[in-house]
Amino acid sequence: MIVSIIAAIGKNRELGKDNDLIWHLPKDMKFFTETTLGHFVIMGRRNYDSIPTKYRPLKERTNVIVTRQEGFKAEKCVVVNSVEEGIALAKMEGDSECFVIGGGQIYDYALKQNLVDRIYLTHIDESFDADTFFTVFDSSKWTQKTIMSFQKDDKNVHDFEIIQYDKI
Ligand SMILES: NC(=O)c1ccc[n+]([C@@H]2O[C@H](COP(=O)([O-])OP(=O)(O)OC[C@H]3O[C@@H](n4cnc5c(N)ncnc54)[C@H](OP(=O)(O)O)[C@@H]3O)[C@@H](O)[C@H]2O)c1
Repeated sequence: MIVSIIAAIGKNRELGKDNDLIWHLPKDMKFFTETTLGHFVIMGRRNYDSIPTKYRPLKERTNVIVTRQEGFKAEKCVVVNSVEEGIALAKMEGDSECFVIGGGQIYDYALKQNLVDRIYLTHIDESFDADTFFTVFDSSKWTQKTIMSFQKDDKNVHDFEIIQYDKI
């Protein structure tokens, strides 16, 4: 099973602010949905909290919430106490690729613990005011493939590029 991170960042690795996303890019959201559909998605408790109620749990995916709290419950979600536990569950259930979908703390943990094989990273060509940032990683240790180059339009107001990084 492949363990993948999927994230979108600004020019300064911005991820979010006030426990919310900073930008509105339906084209990138579509990529996120299509890529993760049918798979396990592993998220930090704060990320789960940030998803509007009407969109959670994320449909047609097994939603796994990582928390240090004992007894935390969320409807139709699996709750675990570590990222490793979430990954082990996905593997046990026979998923081919599971997705660590953030936020900042969970990405950081997964990268630093060397749990990740692949990163789908949307690089947005803009700087933002943010309070949560994506961990710096050594890109020389990963192959890079461009999946999409997108030029802004009336619905998506920033240029962006989606790069797939695979661990060498
Ligand atoms: N741009 C993107 O692609 C993207 C994607 C996702 C999220 N975001 C943004 O990221 C921000 C949220 O990120 P965040 O860093 O604040 O929070 P987070 O990573 O979503 O969640 C943090 C929480 O996860 C739990 N946790 C963290 N490390 C753990 C560990 N080692 N073991 C067990 N549980 C652990 C803790 O939950 P408890 O406190 O319950 O113990 C902690 O408070 C928001 O602004 C969101 O919009 C951006």
